[in-house]
Amino acid sequence: MSVPVPVSVSTAVSDSPPGVGVWLIGARGSVATTVVAGRAALTAGLHTPTGMVTETALFTGTGLPPLSSLVFGGHDTVDCPLPKRAEALAAGGVLPHGLPTAVAAELAAAEREIRPGGPLPGDTRGPDELISAFATDIDDFVRRRGLTRAVVVNVASTEPAPTGSRPERLAPPGAALPPSSLYAAAALRAGCPYVNFTPSTGLHHPALAALAATSGLPYAGRDGKTGQTLLRSVLGPMFAQRALTVRAWSGTNLLGGGDGAALADPAAAAAKNAGKERVLTDSLGATPEGETHIDDVPALGDWKTAWDHIAFDGFLGTRMVLQTTWQGCDSTLAAPLVLDLARLLARAHEASLSGPLPDLAFYFKDPLGDAPTALGEQYAKLAGFAERLRGHGVGGPEPREETR
Ligand SMILES: NC(=O)c1ccc[n+]([C@@H]2O[C@H](COP(=O)([O-])OP(=O)(O)OC[C@H]3O[C@@H](n4cnc5c(N)ncnc54)[C@H](O)[C@@H]3O)[C@@H](O)[C@H]2O)c1
Repeated sequence: MSVPVPVSVSTAVSDSPPGVGVWLIGARGSVATTVVAGRAALTAGLHTPTGMVTETALFTGTGLPPLSSLVFGGHDTVDCPLPKRAEALAAGGVLPHGLPTAVAAELAAAEREIRPGGPLPGDTRGPDELISAFATDIDDFVRRRGLTRAVVVNVASTEPAPTGSRPERLAPPGAALPPSSLYAAAALRAGCPYVNFTPSTGLHHPALAALAATSGLPYAGRDGKTGQTLLRSVLGPMFAQRALTVRAWSGTNLLGGGDGAALADPAAAAAKNAGKERVLTDSLGATPEGETHIDDVPALGDWKTAWDHIAFDGFLGTRMVLQTTWQGCDSTLAAPLVLDLARLLARAHEASLSGPLPDLAFYFKDPLGDAPTALGEQYAKLAGFAERLRGHGVGGPEPREETR
């Protein structure tokens, strides 16, 4: 449900008490812009938190940071300002008409905290220099804004899979660090919890494994589960539990926007499709025949159509077919999950949890650690995680300024 959007609201984040940072890698992208505008809309009471699981009764009393305490910043390699990006999203029907004007102050505040990402074309800095520069930006953000902590969330363009057309769960040993891994290393160096909302390598690089393990920081990923894979994580287990034999599972995705353009690169699409197919292999016990395709259709913008065709056998070998069509707006499906994850990782950090958080598998196509595949089981794990947070009591914020 939404309420009419006034011409202007004044909820300037800079006036807020010490908050929790959300450092977005890809801060001027569609998902990031929707996160910033969406949070502002919620705290101004312009919209209800549809799609945010952390706003449901499951998380009552778990001590999550309030939405109003989140302070945004980040890195990006393009310089189109956030307010302009929001206008473009509103023109495409992703954000409600009038919202960019209504939350102009919040967009401008986040825009002031965006720093140049990298590596930029012609960048001569080596990996360590880049990691240091990124970590310094994050540190500076936390200190200047007097934040209790900051969560780094990767929502940058999908990178090509490490081995080109043959995606692996891990980058090969000795492979150069891709940008997502430079940022992940910077998050660790800055002492920040980390979320990889994309299929890119991030912390999943052998060169970062030891660092991640000894960092004492919580982290979660990979690749937000917002549409086709969400459905697959429900339907795959259904076929398995009903003892129906899936003969083939084929899928096609049509989308535009920045994500559609990035995924037009077959190597980037391979990274994304690996996660989509893994859900089927894990839930059915074998990889069914059939492929998943992603087509860039610029005219569709952020609106995605995902079609699945599932050929299966019933009793006596009777052949049957299930077809599903998902039509969703990608960024508005993703943004509430990013807000959930930022709050969950901040709270996990406050509760001194560290390492991969498989209990957050509910949110990801390719969850870290030993996690179930079925959405129902993942939800049960999430409920257990909420209970764990409740058990840690609700600590007061400790500004990090003096301790660093
Ligand atoms: N439903 C969803 O929208 C959804 C679901 C799961 C995962 N994701 C992933 O989230 C990511 C963002 O999606 P989007 O639609 O916002 O894409 P987008 O193209 O609109 O935004 C990506 C942003 O990343 C920036 N970027 C690229 N390289 C960078 C670098 N080295 N450093 C800093 N910034 C960099 C780009 O300039 C751009 O602003 C994609 O990887 C996508 O696959 C999205």
